[in-house]
Amino acid sequence: MSDQKDGLSRRDFLKGSVATAAAVGLGSVGVFTHAHAEMIGPNDTINAALIGVGAEGSMLLKKAVKIAGVNFVAVCDIQPKHLQQGMDIAKGAKGYADYQEMLDRKDLQAVIIAAPIGLHESMTVDSLRAGKHVLCEKMMAYSVDGARHMARVARQTGRKLQIGHQRRYNPRYRHAYKMIQDGLLGEITHVRSQWNRNASWRRPVPQDSTEELTNWRLYRKSSQGLMAELGSHQIDVVNWMVGDVPSAVVGIGGLDFWKDGRDIFDNVQVVFEYPNGVKYTFQSLTTNQFDGATEQVMGTKGTMILSEGPCTFYREPKTDEEIWESMATKQAAGGKSGIVLDASKSPRLEKAAAEGSAIPELENLKKDAYTLEMEDFFQTLRDGHEPMCSGRVGMETCIPAIKANDAMETRQWTDIPASLYKI
Ligand SMILES: NC(=O)c1ccc[n+]([C@@H]2O[C@H](COP(=O)([O-])OP(=O)(O)OC[C@H]3O[C@@H](n4cnc5c(N)ncnc54)[C@H](O)[C@@H]3O)[C@@H](O)[C@H]2O)c1
Repeated sequence: MSDQKDGLSRRDFLKGSVATAAAVGLGSVGVFTHAHAEMIGPNDTINAALIGVGAEGSMLLKKAVKIAGVNFVAVCDIQPKHLQQGMDIAKGAKGYADYQEMLDRKDLQAVIIAAPIGLHESMTVDSLRAGKHVLCEKMMAYSVDGARHMARVARQTGRKLQIGHQRRYNPRYRHAYKMIQDGLLGEITHVRSQWNRNASWRRPVPQDSTEELTNWRLYRKSSQGLMAELGSHQIDVVNWMVGDVPSAVVGIGGLDFWKDGRDIFDNVQVVFEYPNGVKYTFQSLTTNQFDGATEQVMGTKGTMILSEGPCTFYREPKTDEEIWESMATKQAAGGKSGIVLDASKSPRLEKAAAEGSAIPELENLKKDAYTLEMEDFFQTLRDGHEPMCSGRVGMETCIPAIKANDAMETRQWTDIPASLYKI
């Protein structure tokens, strides 16, 4: 889609760019909320809204209303019961059934989108064009073109776009990333991850709802299935740890167990190839929960096992004992002794503590990753910094997930050209 089709004149684009540049350059002065409107200062209250008060949206809203300096002025949902739930959580917020009507509000500065994946592109693009900053839930979009479109409109409008892969904000993952950067694993050559469950994923349909609205995840026309709903979080982690994006994918999936009218795969196994030769295997089962959800990053010096709970490190026998190993907790798993990656135990943090520096990992361990991702989103509006899970990062995760589905459906080796990641 051309820039012209995105509905922005060159003049509007330049205004957005100037606004962003000014905000980034001046840091503490804040970010323009609209090309013509006022800026958000470091101490200003931000007026926010949430679209889609379902399972995820209501969980996010409960946490978001506690964030200092943010006022939820509106919530939106097409299901009256969910809308009421949103208004009950965000006291004083006005309820809307039509998100377009909500976006007409001039006082609204930021929008969190937690609607089903098929609506992410239109809701995000409309919000950005209305001058709002957006935190959109994962997976970024239903299609490759949709993700590229969202990232492009964010750039053109100069509005912030963040995607909801919350592991980027999880202090354990951030700590593990720094350790990998410090060379703990040597050269990463392979990654394995799995997200296994023993559950159908089907939700009971309330009398006042429909199968389409309640079980949108189970149908190909409204869902990218396990690759999007679970796999995208782990692809994001692997892209981050490896520092690159996949260039090809091969896989096999099936609908073999839950034959209840759904048409998405209920089990998937894929292998991604990265340009530097790293191979990443991903599995997701719905009939056996063995090993749950973890990512295992394998390097020449050791293996890091990452999860939203504890993270552990296993040293290769030929690798020298790391200095911090004696300071860390050891636990046995799979017959081997591993080291728990407690964020309080590493020379880097010990040194920072001795010097009296602030240690964000330790402070943030007290908070959950959803709160941290939302706090950081609002902070980007105040100080102009680039979101850690930006539209670009979200797009780089979304494209391989969709290509994996293509590969499984066509049973073909599927290249992912580097040009697809360019916007
Ligand atoms: N980050 C995470 O870990 C995580 C976890 C779960 C879900 N999610 C994501 O959150 C999103 C929502 O998932 P969910 O499980 O909450 O789904 P859900 O079906 O429970 O909720 C979606 C809500 O959107 C509403 N909705 C649908 N069409 C709408 C429209 N046109 N306008 C306004 N509201 C509309 C529905 O009525 C419903 O209340 C998905 O993108 C999903 O992938 C993210």
